[in-house]
Amino acid sequence: MRVVSGIQPTGNLHLGNYLGAIRQWVAMQDQAESLFFLADLHALSQPVVPAQLAQNTVEMAATLLACGIDPSRAILFNQARVPAHSELQWILGGTARMGWLNRMTQWKDKSGKDGASQSTGLFNYPVLQAADVLLYQATHVPVGDDQKQHLELARDIATKFNLDFDTELFVLPEPFISPSAPRIMSLRDGTAKMSKSDPSDASRINLIDSDEAIAQKFRKARTDAEPLPATMAELADRAEARNLVTIYAALEGVGTDTVLARFAGQGFGAFKPALADLAIAVLGPIRERLTRLLDDRAAVAAALEQGAERARALAAPTLKAAQQAVGL
Ligand code: ADP
Ligand code: NA
Repeated sequence: MRVVSGIQPTGNLHLGNYLGAIRQWVAMQDQAESLFFLADLHALSQPVVPAQLAQNTVEMAATLLACGIDPSRAILFNQARVPAHSELQWILGGTARMGWLNRMTQWKDKSGKDGASQSTGLFNYPVLQAADVLLYQATHVPVGDDQKQHLELARDIATKFNLDFDTELFVLPEPFISPSAPRIMSLRDGTAKMSKSDPSDASRINLIDSDEAIAQKFRKARTDAEPLPATMAELADRAEARNLVTIYAALEGVGTDTVLARFAGQGFGAFKPALADLAIAVLGPIRERLTRLLDDRAAVAAALEQGAERARALAAPTLKAAQQAVGL
């Protein structure tokens, strides 16, 4: 099993990113040969501030290391340092069809009524994603709901390439849907996703938040006045309460009903401080490692360069075979 997954180097990761994505990566390094990359090429599909992109890439790498990605078990790198991603993307551009890309709901959502003023990078984004995984013969790709269509496209591109050029070069990657990846909601509105783009900082727990900030945000989190019930089913109409229980369970690594069995009958006056203590116990050490790594950016850059070297070696035979298949 070989897993490839990328994340855009945007600043400021939050608890939702950690529980919903990064922690699954950390678990995966022991289950599969794993390649994780900072998608700095993908970032170019939107306007960028050059100095910020470089800084975000190193900070994001530092965050992944602080969360437990271990360069001796996983290959961690940034896309731009492995030119084969771009080279294979161009080759696959001969196979991908306009109609396929036009159908991508993310393109439709992002381009909206003004597709003509969007970058071609945004349109071609899914072809680069296909190259990202096909380049390494990934057998599995961790995907959330919003990325399933792009993985399907990667499979379509691989299938057509293999057929057109009479080869079995590309492995068709399967989606890997982690059973334990929760969806974390905003602390201010239990029906919106916790997100860095929410203008209210109180809506999310950032991985760089101090212990005091974590405690205060949970204290002020929106809830109701009812005590907690004994089962999740009874929380069906209480989105904020459900979210806090989900966060508690994910942080402790137990089921939500286990948490409710412990707190049933108690109100948020008791639950919120317990949740804050647990979050601080889990996130405090991550923040401390992150702070140390941000003080030693050269070490982070060196770890990325080592990862890129290993990635380049893995990518080379597939790129060469793809070039030969098309006659380059
Ligand atoms: P944001 O929504 O803050 O912009 P991204 O879209 O950059 O986050 O997502 C990065 C990764 O984190 C993706 O794998 C995404 O599925 C995951 N993720 C983001 N927000 C959440 C959330 N609230 N709950 C669970 N997972 C999340
Ligand atoms: Na986003």
